[in-house]
Amino acid sequence: MINLANFSSIFIANWKLNGNIDFIKHYYQKLTTNNKNCVVVCSPSIYLNALKIDSKNMFRGAQDVSVYREGAYTGELSAEMLEDNNINFCLVGHSERRQYFSENNETVKLKSLNLIETNIIPVICIGETLKEKETNQTKEVLIKQINESVPNISNSKNTIIAYEPIWAIGTGLTPTLEDIDEVHDFIKRIDKRFNTFKVLYGGSVKTSNSSDIVALKNVDGCLIGGASLKVDEFNSIIS
Ligand code: 13P
Repeated sequence: MINLANFSSIFIANWKLNGNIDFIKHYYQKLTTNNKNCVVVCSPSIYLNALKIDSKNMFRGAQDVSVYREGAYTGELSAEMLEDNNINFCLVGHSERRQYFSENNETVKLKSLNLIETNIIPVICIGETLKEKETNQTKEVLIKQINESVPNISNSKNTIIAYEPIWAIGTGLTPTLEDIDEVHDFIKRIDKRFNTFKVLYGGSVKTSNSSDIVALKNVDGCLIGGASLKVDEFNSIIS
Protein backbone atom coordinates (compact mmCIF):
# COMPACT_ATOMS: atom_id res chain seq x y z
CA MET A 1 0.00 0.00 0.00
CA ILE A 2 1.22 3.52 -0.80
CA ASN A 3 2.57 5.39 2.25
CA LEU A 4 0.40 8.51 2.39
CA ALA A 5 2.64 10.05 5.04
CA ASN A 6 5.26 10.62 2.32
CA PHE A 7 3.19 13.39 0.76
CA SER A 8 2.18 16.83 1.96
CA SER A 9 -0.99 16.97 -0.18
CA ILE A 10 -2.96 14.56 -2.34
CA PHE A 11 -4.50 15.61 -5.66
CA ILE A 12 -6.87 13.26 -7.42
CA ALA A 13 -8.09 13.85 -10.97
CA ASN A 14 -11.48 12.29 -11.59
CA TRP A 15 -11.94 12.22 -15.35
CA LYS A 16 -15.39 10.62 -15.01
CA LEU A 17 -16.64 9.47 -18.47
CA ASN A 18 -14.05 11.44 -20.45
CA GLY A 19 -10.74 10.82 -22.23
CA ASN A 20 -9.35 8.61 -24.98
CA ILE A 21 -5.94 7.30 -26.07
CA ASP A 22 -4.99 10.52 -27.84
CA PHE A 23 -6.09 12.65 -24.89
CA ILE A 24 -3.97 10.53 -22.53
CA LYS A 25 -0.90 10.81 -24.77
CA HIS A 26 -1.09 14.61 -24.82
CA TYR A 27 -1.98 14.79 -21.12
CA TYR A 28 1.15 12.94 -20.00
CA GLN A 29 3.37 14.89 -22.36
CA LYS A 30 2.42 17.99 -20.37
CA LEU A 31 1.71 16.71 -16.84
CA THR A 32 4.35 18.00 -14.44
CA THR A 33 4.51 16.72 -10.88
CA ASN A 34 6.78 17.39 -7.93
CA ASN A 35 7.90 14.99 -5.25
CA LYS A 36 6.01 16.71 -2.46
CA ASN A 37 2.53 15.85 -3.64
CA CYS A 38 0.73 12.64 -4.45
CA VAL A 39 -0.96 12.83 -7.85
CA VAL A 40 -3.59 10.26 -8.80
CA VAL A 41 -5.43 10.06 -12.10
CA CYS A 42 -8.74 8.19 -12.15
CA SER A 43 -9.52 7.48 -15.79
CA PRO A 44 -12.31 5.28 -17.18
CA SER A 45 -11.20 1.74 -16.35
CA ILE A 46 -10.44 0.68 -19.92
CA TYR A 47 -7.67 3.30 -20.05
CA LEU A 48 -6.09 2.67 -16.64
CA ASN A 49 -3.19 0.75 -18.11
CA ALA A 50 -2.35 3.67 -20.40
CA LEU A 51 -1.82 6.02 -17.44
CA LYS A 52 1.83 6.70 -16.68
CA ILE A 53 3.27 5.68 -13.31
CA ASP A 54 6.90 6.38 -14.03
CA SER A 55 7.51 8.82 -11.20
CA LYS A 56 7.43 8.15 -7.45
CA ASN A 57 4.38 10.31 -6.87
CA MET A 58 2.16 9.46 -9.88
CA PHE A 59 -0.51 6.84 -9.40
CA ARG A 60 -3.45 5.19 -11.10
CA GLY A 61 -6.89 5.31 -9.56
CA ALA A 62 -10.07 3.50 -10.54
CA GLN A 63 -13.48 5.18 -10.40
CA ASP A 64 -15.30 2.12 -9.10
CA VAL A 65 -14.86 -1.53 -8.17
CA SER A 66 -17.19 -4.51 -7.84
CA VAL A 67 -18.56 -5.62 -4.49
CA TYR A 68 -17.78 -9.13 -5.70
CA ARG A 69 -14.39 -10.80 -5.69
CA GLU A 70 -14.94 -13.21 -8.61
CA GLY A 71 -17.61 -15.25 -10.32
CA ALA A 72 -20.55 -14.86 -12.70
CA TYR A 73 -20.93 -11.06 -12.55
CA THR A 74 -20.81 -9.87 -16.16
CA GLY A 75 -19.20 -6.49 -16.67
CA GLU A 76 -17.63 -6.19 -13.21
CA LEU A 77 -14.01 -5.53 -12.20
CA SER A 78 -12.71 -6.87 -8.90
CA ALA A 79 -10.29 -5.29 -6.45
CA GLU A 80 -7.81 -8.08 -7.23
CA MET A 81 -7.97 -7.20 -10.94
CA LEU A 82 -7.24 -3.56 -10.13
CA GLU A 83 -4.31 -4.58 -7.95
CA ASP A 84 -3.03 -6.82 -10.72
CA ASN A 85 -2.85 -3.71 -12.93
CA ASN A 86 -0.91 -1.48 -10.51
CA ILE A 87 -3.88 0.55 -9.40
CA ASN A 88 -3.28 2.01 -5.94
CA PHE A 89 -6.42 4.06 -5.34
CA CYS A 90 -10.12 3.70 -6.06
CA LEU A 91 -12.99 6.16 -5.67
CA VAL A 92 -15.94 4.68 -3.81
CA GLY A 93 -19.40 6.10 -3.28
CA HIS A 94 -19.04 9.12 -5.55
CA SER A 95 -22.34 11.01 -5.51
CA GLU A 96 -22.83 10.31 -9.23
CA ARG A 97 -22.62 6.60 -8.53
CA ARG A 98 -24.96 6.96 -5.57
CA GLN A 99 -27.40 8.95 -7.74
CA TYR A 100 -27.30 7.05 -11.05
CA PHE A 101 -26.11 3.56 -10.13
CA SER A 102 -27.80 2.84 -6.80
CA GLU A 103 -24.57 2.88 -4.79
CA ASN A 104 -25.35 3.06 -1.07
CA ASN A 105 -23.47 3.11 2.21
CA GLU A 106 -23.63 -0.67 2.48
CA THR A 107 -22.04 -1.30 -0.95
CA VAL A 108 -19.51 1.48 -0.30
CA LYS A 109 -18.43 -0.31 2.87
CA LEU A 110 -18.16 -3.67 1.15
CA LYS A 111 -16.18 -2.24 -1.77
CA SER A 112 -13.87 -0.37 0.60
CA LEU A 113 -13.24 -3.52 2.60
CA ASN A 114 -12.34 -5.49 -0.55
CA LEU A 115 -9.99 -2.70 -1.64
CA ILE A 116 -8.20 -2.43 1.71
CA GLU A 117 -7.73 -6.18 1.83
CA THR A 118 -6.15 -5.92 -1.63
CA ASN A 119 -3.82 -3.07 -0.59
CA ILE A 120 -5.70 -0.45 -2.61
CA ILE A 121 -6.66 2.79 -0.87
CA PRO A 122 -10.40 3.53 -1.09
CA VAL A 123 -11.29 7.21 -1.44
CA ILE A 124 -14.69 7.21 0.24
CA CYS A 125 -16.83 10.09 -1.02
CA ILE A 126 -19.41 11.76 1.18
CA GLY A 127 -21.39 14.97 0.94
CA GLU A 128 -24.77 16.62 1.35
CA THR A 129 -27.33 17.80 -1.21
CA LEU A 130 -28.36 21.45 -1.46
CA LYS A 131 -31.65 20.68 0.25
CA GLU A 132 -29.87 18.98 3.12
CA LYS A 133 -27.52 21.94 3.45
CA GLU A 134 -30.38 24.43 3.41
CA THR A 135 -32.23 22.52 6.10
CA ASN A 136 -29.12 22.33 8.30
CA GLN A 137 -28.78 18.58 7.95
CA THR A 138 -25.17 18.53 6.69
CA LYS A 139 -23.60 17.19 9.88
CA GLU A 140 -26.28 14.56 10.41
CA VAL A 141 -25.91 13.36 6.78
CA LEU A 142 -22.12 13.15 7.06
CA ILE A 143 -22.25 11.24 10.36
CA LYS A 144 -24.59 8.67 8.83
CA GLN A 145 -22.53 8.31 5.64
CA ILE A 146 -19.28 7.94 7.57
CA ASN A 147 -20.60 5.56 10.19
CA GLU A 148 -22.28 3.33 7.61
CA SER A 149 -19.71 3.35 4.84
CA VAL A 150 -16.27 3.37 6.47
CA PRO A 151 -15.23 -0.20 7.40
CA ASN A 152 -13.98 -0.95 10.89
CA ILE A 153 -10.56 -1.91 9.54
CA SER A 154 -10.13 1.55 7.98
CA ASN A 155 -7.38 3.76 9.38
CA SER A 156 -5.45 6.83 8.32
CA LYS A 157 -2.96 4.71 6.39
CA ASN A 158 -5.35 2.63 4.30
CA THR A 159 -8.37 4.91 3.69
CA ILE A 160 -9.00 8.45 2.46
CA ILE A 161 -12.22 10.42 2.91
CA ALA A 162 -13.33 12.94 0.28
CA TYR A 163 -15.88 15.59 1.22
CA GLU A 164 -17.77 16.61 -1.90
CA PRO A 165 -20.88 18.72 -1.28
CA ILE A 166 -23.16 17.55 -4.09
CA TRP A 167 -24.35 21.09 -4.82
CA ALA A 168 -20.73 22.14 -5.49
CA ILE A 169 -19.98 19.43 -8.06
CA GLY A 170 -19.72 20.85 -11.57
CA THR A 171 -21.66 23.97 -10.62
CA GLY A 172 -18.91 26.53 -10.06
CA LEU A 173 -20.27 26.99 -6.53
CA THR A 174 -18.12 26.24 -3.50
CA PRO A 175 -18.65 26.53 0.24
CA THR A 176 -16.76 29.39 1.89
CA LEU A 177 -13.22 28.56 3.02
CA GLU A 178 -14.41 28.76 6.63
CA ASP A 179 -17.20 26.28 5.90
CA ILE A 180 -14.84 23.83 4.17
CA ASP A 181 -12.40 23.93 7.07
CA GLU A 182 -15.16 23.59 9.62
CA VAL A 183 -16.74 20.58 7.89
CA HIS A 184 -13.36 18.86 7.51
CA ASP A 185 -12.64 19.48 11.17
CA PHE A 186 -16.06 18.07 12.00
CA ILE A 187 -15.42 14.94 9.89
CA LYS A 188 -12.12 14.33 11.66
CA ARG A 189 -13.88 14.60 15.01
CA ILE A 190 -16.90 12.36 14.27
CA ASP A 191 -14.90 9.64 15.98
CA LYS A 192 -11.44 9.58 17.53
CA ARG A 193 -10.26 7.13 14.91
CA PHE A 194 -10.83 9.69 12.14
CA ASN A 195 -8.59 12.33 13.78
CA THR A 196 -5.62 11.54 11.57
CA PHE A 197 -7.45 10.55 8.38
CA LYS A 198 -6.60 12.45 5.20
CA VAL A 199 -9.73 14.36 4.17
CA LEU A 200 -9.83 15.79 0.63
CA TYR A 201 -12.16 18.48 -0.64
CA GLY A 202 -13.98 18.16 -4.00
CA GLY A 203 -16.48 20.33 -5.86
CA SER A 204 -15.62 23.06 -8.39
CA VAL A 205 -11.92 23.12 -7.50
CA LYS A 206 -9.99 25.19 -10.04
CA THR A 207 -6.75 27.17 -10.29
CA SER A 208 -8.31 30.26 -8.80
CA ASN A 209 -9.44 28.61 -5.55
CA SER A 210 -7.20 25.54 -5.11
CA SER A 211 -4.30 27.12 -3.24
CA ASP A 212 -6.60 28.74 -0.66
CA ILE A 213 -8.47 25.47 -0.18
CA VAL A 214 -5.33 23.34 0.15
CA ALA A 215 -3.86 25.84 2.61
CA LEU A 216 -6.71 25.19 5.07
CA LYS A 217 -5.60 23.42 8.23
CA ASN A 218 -7.98 20.48 7.89
CA VAL A 219 -7.74 19.96 4.12
CA ASP A 220 -5.26 17.34 2.94
CA GLY A 221 -5.75 17.73 -0.80
CA CYS A 222 -8.40 17.90 -3.50
CA LEU A 223 -10.55 15.69 -5.70
CA ILE A 224 -10.93 17.47 -9.01
CA GLY A 225 -13.40 16.80 -11.81
CA GLY A 226 -13.80 19.27 -14.68
CA ALA A 227 -10.58 21.20 -14.09
CA SER A 228 -8.53 17.99 -14.14
CA LEU A 229 -9.44 17.49 -17.80
CA LYS A 230 -7.37 20.53 -18.76
CA VAL A 231 -3.79 19.48 -18.13
CA ASP A 232 -2.47 23.06 -17.88
CA GLU A 233 -5.04 23.84 -15.23
CA PHE A 234 -4.39 20.57 -13.39
CA ASN A 235 -0.64 21.34 -13.48
CA SER A 236 -1.25 24.70 -11.90
CA ILE A 237 -3.51 23.18 -9.22
CA ILE A 238 -0.97 20.53 -8.22
CA SER A 239 2.05 22.79 -8.30
P1 13P B 1 -15.95 19.18 -10.40
O1 13P B 1 -14.53 19.49 -10.02
O2 13P B 1 -16.18 19.18 -11.89
O3 13P B 1 -16.91 20.04 -9.65
O4 13P B 1 -16.24 17.67 -9.95
C1 13P B 1 -15.92 17.29 -8.66
C2 13P B 1 -16.00 15.83 -8.59
O5 13P B 1 -17.06 15.25 -8.70
C3 13P B 1 -14.74 15.08 -8.40
O6 13P B 1 -14.98 13.78 -8.04
